[in-house]
Amino acid sequence: MGDSGAPKLIPADSVDGVDSAMNVRHLHETDYDPIIAVIDDWWGDRKISYLLPRVLFVHFSSTSFAIEEAGAVLGFLAGFVSQTYPDQAYIHFVGIHPNHRRGGLGRQLYSTFFETVRKLGCTTVRSITSPLNTGSIAFHTRMGFEVERVTGEWQGVPCTVNYELKGEHRVLFVKSIS
Ligand SMILES: CC(C)(COP(=O)(O)OP(=O)(O)OC[C@H]1O[C@@H](n2cnc3c(N)ncnc32)[C@H](O)[C@@H]1OP(=O)(O)O)[C@@H](O)C(=O)NCCC(=O)NCCS
Repeated sequence: MGDSGAPKLIPADSVDGVDSAMNVRHLHETDYDPIIAVIDDWWGDRKISYLLPRVLFVHFSSTSFAIEEAGAVLGFLAGFVSQTYPDQAYIHFVGIHPNHRRGGLGRQLYSTFFETVRKLGCTTVRSITSPLNTGSIAFHTRMGFEVERVTGEWQGVPCTVNYELKGEHRVLFVKSIS
């Protein structure tokens, strides 16, 4: 893995889906500003950036990754090993540039994360998404995750009702990597 040089992130509308050699490296604090600048756009204009704090880039670099091509970050994953349950890992955020989706980059980042946390002693990976994020639900299902702790549904999507604030429902995913 290459791990040097200041990362760059080009705006969403200036990348055309080129597919050549990609490089997966750890995420760094220097990735925070460029990623935060585009993340709402990547999420389809959802106001999401406040959910991705800088501390993840600073304190969870060893289990967080960027995938880049020619110095441009095309995707990232922010995850960590649970402090409470050392055999469990959690993926907090994953995002792929809109022009580079459905080409296996998300799978590549997840595979890198699984491999990394398995070496750290993890046997289980968890992740959480919103029931309105049907793309994320489809992706996690294809990646072998199952939905757990279902207490109801939102617009037909099985989920954990009121998981965060009242009215903030979530889909809780779990996958064994042992
Ligand atoms: C969800 C996301 C990370 C997937 O990344 P990706 O690089 O497009 O996914 P991949 O190409 O690696 O796909 C892996 C598998 O999931 C499937 N998949 C991915 N997105 C899908 C979608 N929107 N609908 C149906 N299936 C999907 C692929 O077909 C593939 O299945 P296969 O390998 O069996 O053919 C990407 O769409 C994204 O960044 N979305 C916006 C941000 C977001 O919602 N993040 C998740 C919540 S934090």
